[in-house]
Amino acid sequence: MDHFLYKNGVLHAEDVSVAEIAASVGTPFYVYSTATLTRHFRLFQEALAGMDHMICFAVKSNGNLAVLKVLGDLGAGMDVVSGGEYRRAKAARVPGERIVFSGVGKTREEMALVLEGGIRQFNVESEPELRALSEVASRLGKVAPIAIRVNPDVDAKTHEKIATGKSENKFGIPIAKARAVYAEAASLPGIDVVGIDVHIGSQLTDLEPFRAAYLKVADLYADLRADGHDIRRLDLGGGLGIPYTRSNEAPPLPMEYGQVIRETVGHLGCEIEIEPGRLISGNAGILVSSVIYLKEGEGRDFLILDAAMNDLVRPSMYGAHHDIIPVQEAEAASTAQPYDVVGPVCETGDTFAKARALPTLTDGDLVAFRSAGAYGAVMASEYNTRPMIPEVLVRGDHFAVIRARPTYEEILGRDSIPAWLSAE
Ligand code: LLP
Repeated sequence: MDHFLYKNGVLHAEDVSVAEIAASVGTPFYVYSTATLTRHFRLFQEALAGMDHMICFAVKSNGNLAVLKVLGDLGAGMDVVSGGEYRRAKAARVPGERIVFSGVGKTREEMALVLEGGIRQFNVESEPELRALSEVASRLGKVAPIAIRVNPDVDAKTHEKIATGKSENKFGIPIAKARAVYAEAASLPGIDVVGIDVHIGSQLTDLEPFRAAYLKVADLYADLRADGHDIRRLDLGGGLGIPYTRSNEAPPLPMEYGQVIRETVGHLGCEIEIEPGRLISGNAGILVSSVIYLKEGEGRDFLILDAAMNDLVRPSMYGAHHDIIPVQEAEAASTAQPYDVVGPVCETGDTFAKARALPTLTDGDLVAFRSAGAYGAVMASEYNTRPMIPEVLVRGDHFAVIRARPTYEEILGRDSIPAWLSAE
């Protein structure tokens, strides 16, 4: 459930007319709903109720400071994968004790930044990273709390580009090698072993891969306790999928996911961490765009929008489906017709949908892409020198621009022509 509904025939974000935002901000733009973000965060809180837990929002899914502030104020922790995301979490006033640092390629500079600023734990992904972290921490007179990310070799049954838990993926340490790596970790001066970490992929719509991975973690927990490690925290990653179509899809609910956690690792008495991104932010956002032209092609009509693959790359990158709906509610009588929905970028890959059944639309009409709050704005680029589009946050009947559209002066001002060329 989300808070993007028609009222009096016009799509609203909570109590604000999307058409009104469009008139004020200009298209294209992203809009997020505070109520949906809040609702989704609470669903995870309810799912883990009674267990000592921390829900660390995956900042990579939506890193806008205002979104992080909404979630941080609800008590969320943050899962960050770069020094940049760490800075975002801190700028949204999330304390270091609630931030976990994941990622396969943390640099020494990032490690130092995070150790100085405060951190809940590093999720370490390789032996070289472990040694580097011990060195950096020792140099700073600190001890780094760590979990080791294990790769359980479980098939997440999701899109190949976002599956991370198979042995052929670059992530984590093979679970069979974990005891040896924990032994090394315990011997290093700058390291304090606190937990085990696992994350097997994103947009999972089946709970069984989670169950398989968490059972392996439970076995490893027993081995590591026997080896004398004080494992007191399990980070179970993110990845729970969302419905991208209104019709037939019904991925598991957070409550059912919580039940899998209880059944597999609930008895171990560890603090549970999870790192959901998409389930919290995905259906809390839409992308609003205008039709520039309706172009009649041979055997098909193209709806050319002012949004493009640089604004929302998921369809061209993963073949992902996003529901597209008119901002002005279609009249019941109007018949749907197929359109190829495309952007203005100069490549064929800039296609959002082919032969998509939509009510009759024409130049100037507004449309909204649903489920665009996760991996939308954060993956945008300025390809074709198209300015990054604004982001707007709604709460009740208020809205605010939470990232402004840059001016062309700002965009061009980042480039510079070297002196040897300027002189010519
Ligand atoms: N934790 C780790 C270590 C991750 O790598 C990810 C996502 C998450 C948590 C959050 O997963 P979520 O709950 O959002 O599924 N750009 C792709 C998704 C990439 C996901 C990468 N890692 C997409 O648009 O589908």
